[in-house]
Amino acid sequence: MRGEWWRTAAIYQVYPRSFADGNGDGVGDLLGLRGRLPYLARLGVDALWITPWYRSPMVDGGYDVADHRDVDPLFGTLGEAEELIGEAHALGMRVLLDIVPNHCSDRHPWFQEALAAGPGSPARERFWFRGGDRPPNDWPSNFGGPAWSPTGDGEWYLHLYAPEQPDLNWNHPDVRDDFERTLRFWFDRGADGFRIDVAPALVKAEGLPDLAGYPGYLPWKDQEGVHDLYRSWRAIADSYPGDRVFAGEIWLPDPARLARYLRPGELHTAFNFAMLTCPWEADALRAVIDTTLATHEPVGAPPTWVLSNHDVPRPVTRYGRDGAAFDSADYFARSHGTPYDEGLGLRRARAAALLVAALPGSVYVYQGEELGLPEVEDLPADALRDPMWARSGGTVKGRDGCRVPLPWSGTRPPFGFGVGRPWLPQPPGWASLTAEAQSRDPSSTLALYRAALRLRRGLTGGLTWLPAPRGVLAFARGDRFACVVNLSREPVSPPPYDGVLLASGPLDGGLLPPDTAAWLRLGGRG
Ligand code: GLC
Repeated sequence: MRGEWWRTAAIYQVYPRSFADGNGDGVGDLLGLRGRLPYLARLGVDALWITPWYRSPMVDGGYDVADHRDVDPLFGTLGEAEELIGEAHALGMRVLLDIVPNHCSDRHPWFQEALAAGPGSPARERFWFRGGDRPPNDWPSNFGGPAWSPTGDGEWYLHLYAPEQPDLNWNHPDVRDDFERTLRFWFDRGADGFRIDVAPALVKAEGLPDLAGYPGYLPWKDQEGVHDLYRSWRAIADSYPGDRVFAGEIWLPDPARLARYLRPGELHTAFNFAMLTCPWEADALRAVIDTTLATHEPVGAPPTWVLSNHDVPRPVTRYGRDGAAFDSADYFARSHGTPYDEGLGLRRARAAALLVAALPGSVYVYQGEELGLPEVEDLPADALRDPMWARSGGTVKGRDGCRVPLPWSGTRPPFGFGVGRPWLPQPPGWASLTAEAQSRDPSSTLALYRAALRLRRGLTGGLTWLPAPRGVLAFARGDRFACVVNLSREPVSPPPYDGVLLASGPLDGGLLPPDTAAWLRLGGRG
């Protein structure tokens, strides 16, 4: 495996509950994932990022962690996790885990102890408990409603997410020590790094001031003290052999603030959410690319390119609605269930895949993206599991639609996901989208991803924009490679080229049709 592999890696996000079910209970698990590792190696990814597999009551899909140093029985055992890491390594893939430091589960022994110990007890200092007859400030929960819940004994506790996810107090030495132990625990077991959940939220503004009138960005985000924490984490990662890395989940509107997390001695990479939230428009995408490159370069960190994850509607559906970029939870209220053009969305999603895979840096693929899966927006209300649904009083359907179990094979649900009834229902019409069906079809989205991930390994050098008509993105990497993406409404002539390496759709008499991308071999510039 290459040195500093993370600078150019293609990283595949596994949401284990929905990836593959090995034991037949309808829920994806480590057994299922282990059985599919050859598929991932064949896809051509360099690393996996596996979302939380720890002990959890699963109120928020495992982001409510009750024990970070054990595997939930729903997924398997710690021994299986160790075997899985070894098996992935043997196939040439690194493994990133997902660490959740902002909060834990309300079933975590610390929170149980804090509740039992009562107001004023030292056990409560590991969290944010405050007294009073009203919530201590005006902070909202990300899942709707206030960020404070009453304990029933005269106090309130802070939870930026669900009430079952109490926020930890990072000023407390126990919290710091325990997470450092967790890092070492998994590094010792071969983990190659961690994705850090809600990375900028750990440190809260002194005095927990109201949001109304707060002079900075948000009183619970991007506070200066958080950088010290990541410097100490980085020192731990660096003390291990073999390039152990961190990828921060950092949603911040200002890319310059994001880049501060990537300074030498801090995190290695951060997800590029500007790309994921960008509408399908040439000028907007070019601006994101330019800003990303310009803000990462001075800190020496590689950009990452992200089109989807387990929190956002799938690109096929997003891009199939003009002007409906995913920018916030409001998307669900605004766009969910409104008509969209699935054919158009798929064409654009395929073109977007070639765009991001051609850019310098590393690229993420969320499970099912390589199959061109659409968002499932018609899940019945009684099937929905995302806490957003209940917290919004049934107005925001939330994120279950991108978490539907993968279709692997066959013509009917459960499409080879397992033998049991999947925990979220799959659309009956997914037969043509299975990995098996797409493996046989050279024009499938799976075939496109396989080819793109193979070819991108040969790409080197920075990005040079090439002259292009309005609505068209064209850039070179080195002298011999160009990527051209047509976001205009007309077919366009690509720049002079020697051959087409890969295209997201057929060229038409040498012209690149709308919503299509091509990778071209250039003749060389002497
Ligand atoms: C992150 C995760 C999301 C989770 C939240 C709380 O944003 O990606 O799935 O709900 O953090 O942990």
